[in-house]
Amino acid sequence: MNLFDVYPINNITITRAKGSYLWDDAGQQYLDMYGGHAVISIGHTHPHFVSRITHQLNQVAFYSNSIIIPLQTELAKKLGKVSGKDDYQLFLCNSGAEANENALKLASFHNGRKKIVAFRKSFHGRTSLAVAATDNPSIVAPVNQTENVVFLPFNDEQALEDYFAKHGDETAAVIIEGIQGVGGINVADLSFLQKIRSLCSTHNTVFIADSVQCGYGRTGKFFSHDHAGIDADIYSMAKGMGNGFPVAGIMIAPYLKAKHGMLGTTFGGNHLACAAALAVLEVMEEEKLMENAKSTGEFLMNALREIKDLKNLRGKGLMIGFDVSGELKDLRKDLLHHQQVFTGESKPNTIRLLPSLALRKKEAEEFLESLTEEINHLTSSSNLVSQA
Ligand SMILES: Cc1ncc(COP(=O)(O)O)c(C=O)c1O
Repeated sequence: MNLFDVYPINNITITRAKGSYLWDDAGQQYLDMYGGHAVISIGHTHPHFVSRITHQLNQVAFYSNSIIIPLQTELAKKLGKVSGKDDYQLFLCNSGAEANENALKLASFHNGRKKIVAFRKSFHGRTSLAVAATDNPSIVAPVNQTENVVFLPFNDEQALEDYFAKHGDETAAVIIEGIQGVGGINVADLSFLQKIRSLCSTHNTVFIADSVQCGYGRTGKFFSHDHAGIDADIYSMAKGMGNGFPVAGIMIAPYLKAKHGMLGTTFGGNHLACAAALAVLEVMEEEKLMENAKSTGEFLMNALREIKDLKNLRGKGLMIGFDVSGELKDLRKDLLHHQQVFTGESKPNTIRLLPSLALRKKEAEEFLESLTEEINHLTSSSNLVSQA
């Protein structure tokens, strides 16, 4: 049987990983500035992560949500502490799309409404409602198309106010990434997030903070929406939550009430997933990784600002984007194949940096060296072509 060919892949087979490094089957080392798409939060194969999962695997890997799973309560407690939102409630699931799907459903269950506000260039996942709230018609199947989702311009307070003046009382939820990831590292203005908060409160609309990519400490605060000094009603989380182990969840404000059967999943909150998620939070606390994301992110930003060929540098903490144009169009590909550095991209011309929150300063320096070398290489070869 062949694989269903949906991913454009690089011809590289990774067989080993440690911290911010990967090795392929020929022993070639790579620097990971991509974190497997913002997933690697505490570093590859962190010893505490490995031993906590291994220990759990030897106890019990899975049993259904029909029994008491003390690891779930332990995780909820720890997450409340690390995120600073002790009074929220936790529902566990398996992926970012599923987290957003449940968040949107819960909002609609709560206020009985159907309309959802999302924003241009948003990405919320590929399940039915999550994909309907994603601003990319090419991944929305006909069956997922719905008039219940409205896309407003990102960071446009007036457009949001105008919409709410007309439709606020029919709107179930507003969903927004604090920093759009797939859309190209677009940072939500703090005043825009504050405006969403106040309009949602006035109209009994649920504020959903999609924190799947920008959350979990990556920006130096637990949720990137926290920079605006507001509380959302629901936070969706995935990616960094399990450092590669599939685990996701939503954190739900106390006023949203649970009812038996309202949400559910077979695998969500299983013993192994909880052990992985606990290991991540324990390491984040122990090694002060949110602080590291902030300081190493600032170090990288300051250095990148000095590189004149990079345009529109933006982001927070270790979620950074910049644009490249013309002669640097192959920069990302060449960083991988000439310098052995993984980075992310956003079409058409944005390079995204989403490394582990444990990225060390010397690894950031190594990246900057590779980047400068590759930019020099590309600009000098294009100068030679133009002189010829
Ligand atoms: C902001 C955001 N939300 C949701 C998702 C979907 O997550 P998953 O691929 O785990 O379903 C992603 C994935 O890239 C994302 O970046």
